[in-house]
Amino acid sequence: MKHFLTGFDWSSEDMLNLLYLARDMKKDPAKYRSDLLGKSIVILFEKPSLRTRTTFDIAMSRLGGHALYLDQQNGAIGKRETVKDYARNLSRWTDGIVARVFRHDTIEELARYGTVPVVNALCDLYHPGQALADFQTVREHYDDLSKVKLAYFGDGNNVTNSLLITGAKLGATVTAVCPKGYGPDVQIYEKALEIASKTGAKLTVTDDVDAVKGYDVAYTDTWVSMGDDTPLDAVRARYMKYQINRELLDRTGISWVLHCQPAHREYEITSEIMDGPMSLVYDQAENRMHVHAAILSTLLNQVRS
Ligand code: CP
Ligand code: NVA
Repeated sequence: MKHFLTGFDWSSEDMLNLLYLARDMKKDPAKYRSDLLGKSIVILFEKPSLRTRTTFDIAMSRLGGHALYLDQQNGAIGKRETVKDYARNLSRWTDGIVARVFRHDTIEELARYGTVPVVNALCDLYHPGQALADFQTVREHYDDLSKVKLAYFGDGNNVTNSLLITGAKLGATVTAVCPKGYGPDVQIYEKALEIASKTGAKLTVTDDVDAVKGYDVAYTDTWVSMGDDTPLDAVRARYMKYQINRELLDRTGISWVLHCQPAHREYEITSEIMDGPMSLVYDQAENRMHVHAAILSTLLNQVRS
């Protein structure tokens, strides 16, 4: 049975099929109104969420199914009972589990002991659905992703890791521009490089902003991820050079800007750019819904072996 855990678990072809499906669902939602009729999922979040929670819930209802939000204040996963029992019980009632967790191990455990598909809605290492929606947004401007060059600026984190994996699978050029010592996960990067060597993707990690001159897309995310209580002002000096602002876009010649949000305006991105004509951030947020619908449809309609 297929899950959606890291992005490594889906082939390039699987990912492209999913992007085609998401595009069609966006264009012609009426066609899919009964796609998941009578099916149910649970969605649970150990960390806050606006976009992911809303889009999975609404995606499910647009496909004719039902999403139940599991309140973590009332029986947090792994605390009131083991993750194993949590997964086994949920599998008896639902057709899928969507979870945002602190530790990636929790997602793996849900998938190991559950008998329904599990979707990673963000963990410490990955944000795979986000990266797919990001490339879908880019694809709305460039037909051929193998010709697209995306530069990620700032803190190397779960979003950066997933951009590298997804970029590798889709054959794109992805460069993470991060301060030394704050880049993406080294093991994930190396594994993504192996995939890139087969797909023709080009992946790089650097601290040099000028390495991405002539790129197409600039991407950034928070300098401090959920679960880390460090105030943004405490890391400002480390990341300021990587802020997406007018000067950086002029210097690199980049045309489009992405941010997974929530954004910290005047920290990783200026309001001028976020609200300006180069910003695709709200298209990107919208595409989360269509991509999540495609993920749910693909996983819940699979023929189980
Ligand atoms: N980008 C994203 O995952 O947003 P939320 O944390 O609001 O879900
Ligand atoms: N890197 C961020 C992504 C938020 C969607 C975090 O994990 O908090």
